[in-house]
Amino acid sequence: MVFLKTDEEVELLRAANRLLGMAYGEVAKAIVPGVTTWELDKIAHDFICDHGGIPSCLGYEGYPATLCTSVNEQVVHGIPSKDVVLKDGDIVSVDGCVLLNGFHADSAYTFPVGEVSEDVLKLMRTTKECLMLGVEQAVTGHRLGDISYAIQSHAEGAKYNVVREFVGHGIGREMHEDPEVCNYGRRGNGIVLKSGMTLAIEPMVMMGRRNVIIEDDGWTARAADRKPAAHYEYSVCVRNGKADILSTFDYIKEVLKERFI
Ligand code: MF3
Ligand code: CO
Repeated sequence: MVFLKTDEEVELLRAANRLLGMAYGEVAKAIVPGVTTWELDKIAHDFICDHGGIPSCLGYEGYPATLCTSVNEQVVHGIPSKDVVLKDGDIVSVDGCVLLNGFHADSAYTFPVGEVSEDVLKLMRTTKECLMLGVEQAVTGHRLGDISYAIQSHAEGAKYNVVREFVGHGIGREMHEDPEVCNYGRRGNGIVLKSGMTLAIEPMVMMGRRNVIIEDDGWTARAADRKPAAHYEYSVCVRNGKADILSTFDYIKEVLKERFI
């Protein structure tokens, strides 16, 4: 069942997403060679709690942290750890959720650590473009498959691949609501989008083959061929004419400046 949100509910979602975006700004300041993903998780956890939010990934189906921190060939759901020290040239995808006033925020951003190679930067840029092209399709009267197609065709046009095992989703009072938002699909397929639908759109793009394996920790999904992957995610509200982006990367942008993608 797809829940349409009232304007008041959409504003609560926006407020939750602003808090998550601010937490990512704090995380961005700390992303330098030598930091551990555990430290990033602690920063996000404390910032969210200090501002009245609940880090809603923590404890979700037993997930042990506030953030997912997925490094290089890790695609999603990397578990923050004191043993994972970021080094120059790495990329780290940061994904987390905040529950505030009864609504969940969800967004993700892939950060460079120090100087990243040009081919990895291109993967990041293309993945961010996939996100924006998907978001552009989230307008009243379009179909779900229009979002999926926009993402898949842009990624594959750049000779990359999209993951099949993980998808975007509706979002609201629950972190994961209907519908599933696949990163692959056909134009004109799927449900018709209605004003007030709120969706987490989250392309995960692989430089190599699309196959992923789950590590022994039961969570971390990594590229089977160990090539890098990138992941950007916005929560959006479907509207007439133009999608309303509820998440923000503005606080990340303030920190990364010219390194912002
Ligand atoms: N933020 C993720 C998503 O996009 C959720 C991560 S799963 C969790 O759906 F277990 F870590 F919460
Ligand atoms: Co999500």
